[in-house]
Amino acid sequence: MAEGFRPAFVEVDLDAIAQNASALAGLVAPAELCAVVKADGYGHGAPAVARAALSAGAGSLAVALVEEGVALREAGITAPILLLSEPTPDGIAEAVARRLTLTLYRPAAVAAAQRAARRVGVRAAVEVKVDTGMHRVGASEDDALAVAGAIAASADLRLTGLWTHFAVADEPDDPFTATQLARLAHTRARLGAAGIAVGRVHAANSAGALAHPASRLDLVRCGLALYGYSPVAGAGPALAPALSLKARVHLVRTLPAGEATSYGRAYRLPRAGAVAVIPLGYHDGVPRALFDGGGEVLIGGRRRPVAGTVTMDQLLVDCGPSGDVAAGDEAVLIGRQKDDAIDAAQWARWLATVPYEVLCGIGPRVPRVYRGGPPS
Ligand SMILES: Cc1ncc(COP(=O)(O)O)c(C=O)c1O
Repeated sequence: MAEGFRPAFVEVDLDAIAQNASALAGLVAPAELCAVVKADGYGHGAPAVARAALSAGAGSLAVALVEEGVALREAGITAPILLLSEPTPDGIAEAVARRLTLTLYRPAAVAAAQRAARRVGVRAAVEVKVDTGMHRVGASEDDALAVAGAIAASADLRLTGLWTHFAVADEPDDPFTATQLARLAHTRARLGAAGIAVGRVHAANSAGALAHPASRLDLVRCGLALYGYSPVAGAGPALAPALSLKARVHLVRTLPAGEATSYGRAYRLPRAGAVAVIPLGYHDGVPRALFDGGGEVLIGGRRRPVAGTVTMDQLLVDCGPSGDVAAGDEAVLIGRQKDDAIDAAQWARWLATVPYEVLCGIGPRVPRVYRGGPPS
């Protein structure tokens, strides 16, 4: 169990990350695998995940924020890092200084990138994101032509890529993914006709990489699959979930049948028995809704129901009448214990959400402990 005053931690299996990276890189070759490590590596810890992925076949990294790219650089990671959204002008200056690859989609940002590159004295790498239907960020096709043209015409910038992001790639039968790919190809063709070489072209997230082979193009940007979950049931190679959430039982108390527990007294013991207190709560990423959704915890290799409203720092578990649970026992909220396992996909069903939100939601005060991984 991890050292700490509170016996609760996330365990990250870096060999699982490496195995997933290797399987994905093999599947999509000759396309490059770009490991998406934003949101602190989907809660796993970005530097450690980045190193494991790069050692096992990923060629580059992607993050959402300049700050996330800076943290990787400060951890000593020199691999190419793509920013997935356009930063503010100050963010652009910092990104250029840190040799992060910019993604731009507005003409004003091109001017800011040019100024920053001149100041730093580099020819900064820039990619253009085109909105093909997700309608979140990215340029319209006409704006993409203008932005790419300005980048290509600049002596201070290098146009290294053109890319887009899918809206429904996790629904393999939805024809809209093909529509988005066709729109991306159209933008590329118009740029080609204008004599502008765009560099690499990419579109696929995990779902694209796994379920839409035609979308692999020059590079795939995989997040969820790298962490061991497929967004499309049954698609792609076997993947190993890398994250476990564990704690030790803080105390056990015996209560009579019919007694109600926690805030709101919403859980009533069906029979006399033991209630275990687990030192993890909603600040740690165990949502209150886990109780309403029928969530369970593994203790002694058996699933036991969450017994009442999850609180900020603690949750309760009904361990029944058998007296087989004691303070100090290992509790597994996500992960394997003996012959059973609970994964983030199961949590997502209990919580009516997606595994992404479960993994990213595990709070910063839960220590991350690493197993395996490349030699440092
Ligand atoms: C632009 C972009 N590309 C790639 C990804 C990775 O997606 P996934 O985790 O589904 O592989 C994300 C994640 O949300 C993203 O925003």
